[in-house]
Formats: sequence, structure tokens, C-alpha cells
Amino acid sequence: MTHTLSIRRPDDWHLHLRDGAMMRAVLPETTRHFARAIIMPNLVPPVVTAQDARAYRNRILAALPDGSTFQPLMTLYLTEQTDPQDVAAAFADGLIHAVKLYPAGATTNSDSGVKTLRRVYRVLEKMAQIGLPLCIHGEVTTPEVDIFDREQVFLDTVLAPLRADIPELKITLEHITTSHGINYVSDAPGDIAGTITTHHLMINRNHMLVGGIRPHYYCLPIVKRASHQMALRKAATSGNPRFFLGTDSAPHVDGAKESACGCAGVFSATNTMSCLAHVFEEEGALDTLEAFTSLNGPARYGLPPNEARITLEKRTTPTAYPAKFDTEDGPLTLFDPATPLHWHVT
Ligand code: NCD
Ligand code: ZN
Repeated sequence: MTHTLSIRRPDDWHLHLRDGAMMRAVLPETTRHFARAIIMPNLVPPVVTAQDARAYRNRILAALPDGSTFQPLMTLYLTEQTDPQDVAAAFADGLIHAVKLYPAGATTNSDSGVKTLRRVYRVLEKMAQIGLPLCIHGEVTTPEVDIFDREQVFLDTVLAPLRADIPELKITLEHITTSHGINYVSDAPGDIAGTITTHHLMINRNHMLVGGIRPHYYCLPIVKRASHQMALRKAATSGNPRFFLGTDSAPHVDGAKESACGCAGVFSATNTMSCLAHVFEEEGALDTLEAFTSLNGPARYGLPPNEARITLEKRTTPTAYPAKFDTEDGPLTLFDPATPLHWHVT
């Protein structure tokens, strides 16, 4: 049986493109299906000022495949030195669409992140005033807190007090991995939304750890138990406008992943739409796929949905995706959902 589904072209509201050779390798994997993406600023050194963001945007545009109309939506990496005026001017220019908060040390390339939230309140107050969203990596970095509890503890000890202090701030809680995060975003008053990744919908910690340790499933926030995965699936497929796709596709070469101390990050740009159609079909919710990938995000960011469309076709023969890509920096492994993917983007 052939089954087709036509939806507006999707956008990715959380993407790592990196720079240089890696960017050249992964950019076409996103632009093939996606019209726009929120570009994460955690380069080394990070994208901190409007000037950095402009230069990075130009490098991305210069590396686009011929004929691509892909739009990188830039973000700034929030530091304790960030200047509220620089941020406001970059937003007024249409250069940036969000500012990213990494708690210092929370994840890959987050060393320049925020240690004391109070020190960035002037920036956050300015953002609240002008309607510029804050994207948050929602995990505490307290050494005593178990890695599987770091998102939940963040909600209670950091996010709730921050929102009480600056209630007007628009917040995107990124890559939600727990039912606690889902409940918080579903129920909280005010201007909050959340992104969910492809891989957190498809795998739980058993996939990562049972029968051997699979470094290509290691990411941050770390995948949780199956009950959390189920809560994520329910939220993503619910049609609730507060939830939308941020793949968090985060490439690292195999040498960095398959190591005694491997990097966090899952590279999923290439097969994300096939994976999502698979998940939404399993949940009996193909009718809400477009809201999740193509409507809720633009509405949240005050942008029109894409006019162009893509078609997904369910085929008898699974789509053959490459297991790896060759980059000038070394091989890069694609997210393996550990199940055949019958949905093909035509
Ligand atoms: C991201 C990366 O590699 O830049 N890694 C990850 O596991 N998601 C950083 C991040 O978004 O946390
Ligand atoms: Zn990320």
C-alpha cells in the first residue's frame, strides 16, 4: 500500500551546523528538507556578539548548496558579559531570532556559559521588553545532582524562579527529555514553549545501554527511561502549539564519539523526517505531524509558515540512508533509529 502525506516544508528550531569542513558536510543534509533553522551558537569560540552572528551567518550562506533558499535564523550565546544593547540591535536588524542560555558546563562547548543567572538579568529584562525569545538548555550542572535528574531539578530550582522574576520573558525550553519538562511546559502560565528532538522520540536509555554501550545515542540532555519517552511522544503528537521540532542534530566525528570519553550529540538531520513520520504513524497521529514540524514553530517565532510543501510517501521497501558520511575531519555517523524507515521524502 502506498500512502502519501503532503505537508508544508518543515523548519528545525534547534540545529548545530558547526563551522568549516563539518558545516560543509552537514549543511546539505538539513537544507534538503528544511526551509529554516535556529542555528545554535556553541562554536569554539562561541557566537557572542551581533558581529559574530553576522559573520557566522555569512559563512553559512556562502556554504549553501546551489539554488538553496535555506534561511539560517541566528542566535547569540549568552554570557555574563553580554551587552543588552548589542542584543537588542541585532534583534531589531532581524539578524537574530533568539538568545541561547547554556548553564556553564552543561553540555558540549558550554564553558563560556552562565554561572550566575542574576548576572544576566539586565539582558533578560531587555529581551522581555522587546519580545526576543530565550532558548534554554534546561539542566543544572550541580555535581551532586544525578545526570538523569538534571532537567527536573532545573525546572524547580532555576526556571520557576527565573519566570517569577521576569514573567514577560518568552522562553523555549529546548530538547525536553522528561515528563516533568512536558508537564511544566503544558501547564505553566505565560509565554513558554518547548522543543523535542527526533532521537528522544525514538529511543530511551535502554537503547543506549542494554547489550553494550552505544556512543552514538549519547547526547545531552541524556535519554531517559521509557516512560519519559512515552510522555514526549504524547506531547509531540498532541497538536499542542507549545511543542515543536528542534532536532538538536549535533554532529561529532566518530573519533570523538567512539572514545573513552565520548562527546555528547546525535546527528539526525538526514533521516529526521522519515523518523518523525514513523513515530507519528505509530502514535496514530499523522494528522498532527505538520503542526509539529511546520506550523507551531513559526507561530511561536512570529514567522509565517513556509508556503512550499514536501511529500512523504510510505513505501514497502525501507529507505536506505547512509550509515556514515565522509567529512574532511573524518567519518560522521548518522542516527540509527534501529528500525526500518518506510517513510520517504520525495
Ligand atoms: C550538543 C552539541 O554537540 O553541540 N550536544 C548534545 O548532546 N545535544 C550541545 C547541546 O545542545 O546540548
Ligand atoms: Zn543542541
